[in-house]
Formats: sequence, C-alpha cells, structure tokens
Amino acid sequence: MSFIQYEVQGMVAVLTIDRPKALNALNSAVLEEMDAVIDAIDLNTVRCLVITGSGEKSFVAGADIGEMSTLTKAEGEAFGKKGNDVFRKIETLPIPVIAAINGFALGGGNELAMSCDIRICSDNAVFGQPEVGLGITPGFGGTQRLARLVSPGMAKQLIYTGRNIKADEAKRIGLVNEIYTQEELMPAALKMASGIAKNAPIAVRNCKKAINEGLELGMDEALVLEEKLFGDCFETHDQVEGMGCFMSREKPKPRPVFTNN
Ligand code: CAA
Repeated sequence: MSFIQYEVQGMVAVLTIDRPKALNALNSAVLEEMDAVIDAIDLNTVRCLVITGSGEKSFVAGADIGEMSTLTKAEGEAFGKKGNDVFRKIETLPIPVIAAINGFALGGGNELAMSCDIRICSDNAVFGQPEVGLGITPGFGGTQRLARLVSPGMAKQLIYTGRNIKADEAKRIGLVNEIYTQEELMPAALKMASGIAKNAPIAVRNCKKAINEGLELGMDEALVLEEKLFGDCFETHDQVEGMGCFMSREKPKPRPVFTNN
C-alpha cells in the first residue's frame, strides 16, 4: 500500500491516510487502497476501527482537485460513486468506526469523517464543505450526511456559503463530540476504541445496526427492529456471561475471537 497504513493493536485497528504531500487528499488510488484495506479487516478479531490522517496538519483536505479538474460529466459521476461506495462501506461496517480528525477535514475529508460512527478532533481541526467555490457540489455524501447529522438548515448554510469552521464551532453544532490537543487526540481515540472493544461485541454490533438502520425507518418499524436486535442478544455467550457475572459479582472475561453466538 502506498497511501494507506493499517495497524492492529489488540482488538483495535488504526487506518491512516498517508498522502501528506497533498494533505491526504483523496484521489482514485487512495480510495481504491482504502476500499481494499477495509475489505481485509479481520472482523473476527478487530472490534473497533480508528481512521486518521498522517501528519499534524490534515485529516483529509478533500477529494483530489487535480484529478477532478479534467473530468467529464460521466467521469465526475463515476468518481462520486467511487467515494460514496467506500464511505458507505465504512458506515455499514459491522464494528464501530471512530474518526480522529487531526487537522483539515474539508470536502471529502469532512464527508469521510461523517461516514464514521463517532468524530473527535484536535484543536487545530478545520471543517467545511467548500465545493461550491470550486464549481461542484459535495460529492461523497456531504449533502446527505451533513443534513442528517447537524440539521438541514445548518447543513445548507455551511454548504451554500462554503465557509470553513473551527473545532469549537463544529462541536457546538454537533459535528464532533470532543476536542483534544494534538498530542492528546490519538491516545484519546485509542482509549475510546479499546473501551468499546471490551464490551460485548454482538451487543455493540447490534447497537450500531439498530441506530443506523432505525434512523432510516419510521418509529414503529424502528422499534420492531430494535426488539429483534435486542432479542438476538439473548442466549449468546456474551449475554449469558455478562448477566451471569453481574449476578455472581464476577468480572466478565472478554472473548478474543468474535462468533455469532
Ligand atoms: N486536492 C489536491 N491537492 C490538495 C488538496 C486537494 N483537495 N488540498 C491540498 N492539496 C495540496 C496542495 O495543492 C499543495 O500541493 P503542492 O505543495 O504540490 O502545491 C499541498 O496539498 C499543500 O497545500 P497548500 O499549500 O494549499 O497548504 P495550505 O496550508 O496553504 O492550505 C488548505 C491548506 C486550506 C487545506 C488548502 O490546501 C485547500 O484549500 N485545499 C483544498 C480544500 C478543498 O477545497 N477541499 C474540497 C475538495 S472538493 C471535494 O472534496 C469534492 C467532494 O466532495 C468529493
């Protein structure tokens, strides 16, 4: 891999976009490598993924403007699909994904962060969807995920103005959950990831599915989905062990390998 680093530390994996000369901008090669790395994640052992960017300045400064500058309409649409497919794969990965946003998260960078379950950032982070200044719309899910994540009105304001915002404003509007110093960001991301990884994996996966898929449904159907996923936890090793240990005041022993029961 030329542009993606992938490292597993116990039950937590870290995927780093590593194209610092272009502030980790996403060209086709980066997207293809990211797709291959995500496909290769061992979901039997990895329980939480952290995505970050290399260097101290940028998470991802967007889709690659040089590559996009000569695209035809059909090629532009295909490039949008390439990004959307990878980001949707991240969004629907069975395990939780944390974006550790270490600087610029512009255009495709903000869109990548929004396809993750949880966003935390460093105090130098800058967020925005500056596409309209380049004569295009956000194309890797920004028009859809920003409107769902913050509010349609705030998403429209940010997208129509193309204005960048700093970490504190991103936190105020609910785009990120927490802000850390640059030094504290990765330790905080890894600590959160290992905390998630220690919890019952079937339950954590079912929570992700219930929240993500439930948001696409009406409340009555969403509650039926929750009942099904809640029920699916029963009779699993984790439920028997987790509740049994609570009753006997023992500590549950985490299972190293994921199984469906
Ligand atoms: N694409 C390609 N190259 C990029 C890039 C991008 N999105 N962002 C930065 N780079 C490159 C620069 O061209 C520069 O390369 P050279 O050294 O070879 O000239 C290098 O990264 C460093 O960038 P700067 O010198 O510009 O660094 P800076 O600190 O002065 O500015 C910045 C940083 C404000 C992030 C600025 O680089 C910038 O505005 N970048 C573009 C941000 C942007 O518009 N992103 C949205 C892209 S469109 C999109 O993402 C569409 C979509 O939804 C799919």
